[in-house]
Amino acid sequence: MAPIKSLLSPLSLLLLAARSSGHVLPRAAVDSSSAYDYIVVGGGTCGLAVASRLTENSNVTVLVIEAGESVYDNANVTSFDGYQSAFNTAIDWLYKTEAQTHADGRALVLHQGKAIGGTSTINGMSYTRVDAAQIDAWQEIGNEGWTWDNLYPYYRKQETFQIPNKHQEAGGSSYIKSYHGFKGPVSIGWPLNQAVHVLGAAVQSAYEALGLPASEDPNGGDLRGTTAYPSMMDEETRMRSDAARAYFWPHYPTRSNLALKSGTTVNRLLWSDEKDADGNVVAEAVEAVSNNGTTSILRANKGVIVSAGTIRTPQVLELSGVGNPKILSKANVTTRVNLPGVGENLIDQINNSVYASLKTNATYDDEAPVASYPNVTDLFGNNTSAVGAKLLADLPAYAEKIASENNNATSAADLLKLMKVQHGLLFNHGVAAAEVIHSSTGSKLDAEFWATLPFTRGNIHITSNDPKEQASINLNHFMMDWDAMSQAAVAKYIRKLYETSPMNNMVGAETSPSAASVPADATDATWIQWLKENYRSNFHLLSSAAMMPREIGGVVSEKLQLYGTSNVRVVDASVLPFQVSGHLTSTLYAIAERAAEFIEQADGRF
Ligand SMILES: Cc1cc2nc3c(=O)[nH]c(=O)nc-3n(C[C@H](O)[C@H](O)[C@H](O)COP(=O)(O)OP(=O)(O)OC[C@H]3O[C@@H](n4cnc5c(N)ncnc54)[C@H](O)[C@@H]3O)c2cc1C
Ligand SMILES: *[C@@H]1O[C@H](CO)[C@@H](O)[C@H](O)[C@H]1NC(C)=O
Ligand SMILES: *[C@@H]1O[C@H](CO)[C@@H](O)[C@H](O)[C@H]1NC(C)=O
Ligand SMILES: *[C@@H]1O[C@H](CO)[C@@H](O)[C@H](O)[C@H]1NC(C)=O
Ligand SMILES: *[C@@H]1O[C@H](CO)[C@@H](O)[C@H](O)[C@H]1NC(C)=O
Ligand SMILES: *[C@@H]1O[C@H](CO)[C@@H](O)[C@H](O)[C@H]1NC(C)=O
Ligand SMILES: *[C@@H]1O[C@H](CO)[C@@H](O)[C@H](O)[C@H]1NC(C)=O
Ligand SMILES: *[C@@H]1O[C@H](CO)[C@@H](O)[C@H](O)[C@H]1NC(C)=O
Ligand SMILES: *[C@@H]1O[C@H](CO)[C@@H](O)[C@H](O)[C@H]1NC(C)=O
Ligand SMILES: *[C@@H]1O[C@H](CO)[C@@H](O)[C@H](O)[C@H]1NC(C)=O
Ligand SMILES: *[C@@H]1O[C@H](CO)[C@@H](O)[C@H](O)[C@H]1NC(C)=O
Repeated sequence: MAPIKSLLSPLSLLLLAARSSGHVLPRAAVDSSSAYDYIVVGGGTCGLAVASRLTENSNVTVLVIEAGESVYDNANVTSFDGYQSAFNTAIDWLYKTEAQTHADGRALVLHQGKAIGGTSTINGMSYTRVDAAQIDAWQEIGNEGWTWDNLYPYYRKQETFQIPNKHQEAGGSSYIKSYHGFKGPVSIGWPLNQAVHVLGAAVQSAYEALGLPASEDPNGGDLRGTTAYPSMMDEETRMRSDAARAYFWPHYPTRSNLALKSGTTVNRLLWSDEKDADGNVVAEAVEAVSNNGTTSILRANKGVIVSAGTIRTPQVLELSGVGNPKILSKANVTTRVNLPGVGENLIDQINNSVYASLKTNATYDDEAPVASYPNVTDLFGNNTSAVGAKLLADLPAYAEKIASENNNATSAADLLKLMKVQHGLLFNHGVAAAEVIHSSTGSKLDAEFWATLPFTRGNIHITSNDPKEQASINLNHFMMDWDAMSQAAVAKYIRKLYETSPMNNMVGAETSPSAASVPADATDATWIQWLKENYRSNFHLLSSAAMMPREIGGVVSEKLQLYGTSNVRVVDASVLPFQVSGHLTSTLYAIAERAAEFIEQADGRF
């Protein structure tokens, strides 16, 4: 099937002089007869989910504007075995961070998808949800209605879970049926040729010996344990189930109310010169530029949904005049909405790998990887309460430090409250404090890992009013002691696992870091130096347009409305107020599914 159909026409392509004016679009200049109800900025993971659900109602018209193109037939995307092959190709944005001052000045490359389907077309496909308490925390900080119980139906709505057969069960697949959905767009499952679990079983029993049990299914709101987790893939075709294949291509050929403009980048939102009755600015249209350089103004009758991702959403908002006036004026952008939280609160994780060789010649390449999700007690044993008390005592200093670098988006006092909630997740609720993924290729054993809840906050801001210029990205990796120390604790835990039966019979020499460079009795300082020299971003970037009360630096309301605007919502990874312990996509789809309902219920009155 060739899913690509030609662009729905006519689009209201008012060709204005590029770099036109301020941010006000004169009403008279707009041809409203060919406008859409909603424009979705960014046809990625969340954008396509929202567009797909909204256009189930044939009376609602939606235009998706996406910078990238179709990757429907791109084998680097479709192949289940292709993870990382799309890196550094034309569909990778390849953003660069500023030199990371707390990580020896290293600047990092951030892979993000530039394609219809966004980052879901290049990600690792791992499918795990979060700990229930992590969603409940969103309500605790002021986002009424955001609880695990409220979000849970949307996790199930998104998926078609493929029940494992006996062969796959021998390969480690297990599940609890009631956790899953069977009618949703995203295919979740395991490869049919998955090998019998031998290494995976050994990994799980060594963890069991350390007190971390096998989990029957990590997707019911309790992550702790070990699991041969499922992936976002179709078992029969062995293909990636990305946002485009799941939510978009099945409907695009038949829904005349769903339009797409690909190869087109949105520069900014354009506002009406009149505010609404509540004093909020009203988005009328977006200014976009296609790959051939043509600038067009596309009109939205009811509203705009910004889904450009954690890195790009703040840039679009700031170029539209929504953000911190000091930052905007430096970039020669006129402020329309004073909203200093835009681009702040950015949270990622740190990814490292411990590599070892196998003792025997047996190989385990076709086994499903096993992930472990330990809590702080698993990591710190009888030191846990001391570690927790020390962290709690450090939080005021952490909050001060972030407040001194966050352009006054959130005060130290408010940050401290947020950090105490995060501390409670780790030390009272016992959410997964780390993830370790065990896999093997040939004679090599890989344990890649990340502590899940760093306390640092970074930021992303424009430095120019030229939309083609990348924003300045600062992740502040390793800024807080906890972030470095907890990452080191996971590395030590992996070593302990390898010394535990039956893994001690299978694991040979550690090749990285190796006992020579980080000895068994190494101090945390030695560990942390090695971590800094060998880490990369975990690509779980979020929170740069955080859903929080406006008074504490939030950017969107609990209905995902952009503060200070009457008809703009943000729906993508940038709205999560805290980092989460599972992989992000399941939670993003759940948010997008719920956002579509908010929009339907509001019926254009955002
Ligand atoms: C390498 C990597 C591995 C990962 N592995 C996993 C995993 O195994 N499991 C998991 O669940 N999650 C994983 N993630 C995380 C997850 O994939 C992302 O968090 C998620 O896809 C982000 O969704 P989004 O909707 O926020 O943004 P995106 O999916 O990135 O969508 C944003 C879209 O907007 C477009 N865009 C940007 N700016 C503009 C503009 N100005 N105009 C028009 N279009 C624009 C982009 O091209 C893109 O298509 C991984 C991420 C990466 C990078
Ligand atoms: C679509 O609009 C028509 C005409 O206004 C109306 O009769 C119908 O109920 C609407 N359908 C939906 C699903 O809203
Ligand atoms: C797939 O990736 C390889 C390198 O990883 C690259 O050479 C090739 O051009 C890519 N294919 C497409 C269609 O982009
Ligand atoms: C540029 O591309 C757009 C479609 O994206 C098309 O409508 C327009 O005619 C093109 N302009 C030129 C000069 O090729
Ligand atoms: C802002 O505008 C002034 C005056 O036109 C110019 O000198 C300056 O370089 C501009 N700054 C940026 C960041 O574009
Ligand atoms: C973590 O880093 C290792 C290399 O250090 C890499 O092989 C692995 O894929 C990374 N994990 C993620 C999720 O990017
Ligand atoms: C592994 O293979 C090599 C070469 O094939 C062989 O010499 C060696 O004896 C094997 N070792 C074991 C433990 O089977
Ligand atoms: C607990 O603390 C002691 C003393 O600082 C240390 O030697 C030990 O390794 C710690 N144990 C764990 C599991 O962190
Ligand atoms: C803590 O546990 C370790 C083993 O993990 C043990 O060696 C040590 O004695 C314990 N310390 C206390 C104070 O119980
Ligand atoms: C933050 O607040 C301080 C004190 O009020 C002020 O001096 C500083 O300029 C502000 N910074 C920004 C970026 O707004
Ligand atoms: C970690 O999990 C174990 C087993 O359920 C539990 O005993 C412990 O209290 C948990 N840790 C925290 C901090 O909740």
